[in-house]
Amino acid sequence: MKPRLQIIVASTRPTRFADKPLAWLVERLAKRDGLEFEILDMRDHPLALYDLADSPARTPREYAREDIAALGRALDRADGYIVLTSEYNHGYPASLKNALDHVFVELNRKPVSFVGYGGVGAARAIEQLHWSASNSKWPHFVTRSTYCLTSCSLPCRPKCSTLKCSHLSINGSRC
Ligand SMILES: Cc1cc2nc3c(=O)[nH]c(=O)nc-3n(C[C@H](O)[C@H](O)[C@H](O)COP(=O)(O)O)c2cc1C
Repeated sequence: MKPRLQIIVASTRPTRFADKPLAWLVERLAKRDGLEFEILDMRDHPLALYDLADSPARTPREYAREDIAALGRALDRADGYIVLTSEYNHGYPASLKNALDHVFVELNRKPVSFVGYGGVGAARAIEQLHWSASNSKWPHFVTRSTYCLTSCSLPCRPKCSTLKCSHLSINGSRC
């Protein structure tokens, strides 16, 4: 059986840029024989802000509500993850933070890596995700060795804004 990799899409904005780097990532993963992959979109898991009495680390898989259970089951399906993240105020999107706060054992001891996009490739958001991953006992890869997408570093740059540009690059060069 092939390992199942999940791409977790953090941004939920209706006009999000995330779909462009997501397409880029999917295209590359589809060429790999050794794994299955699926997308876990935070848009499909709109949880209320965390309000539970206890921490999920103390109450593993004791889901208080069906929407939390659905997220837990979805994460349980994966053998490893790639988190696709943007950066909001030097952190990762609250949609993902809130989701991660609702789970714990579902992630334990599964490898995770990160793809960021935006002005600085969401470097600070990924840095923050490293800390969250450490707490969730996610064995994570070093940020600097992951692919970092910048939304546009190509000659059209002066003409296109982050949200409009469809050019993608890895660490600043055309790919
Ligand atoms: C509320 C907000 C805060 C942002 N803060 C940052 C930031 O701190 N650093 C950065 O590089 N980009 C920042 N940006 C720009 C986003 O990274 C950029 O708009 C990106 O396209 C957002 O991803 P999304 O379109 O997939 O949601 C911010 C955007 C928003 C909406």
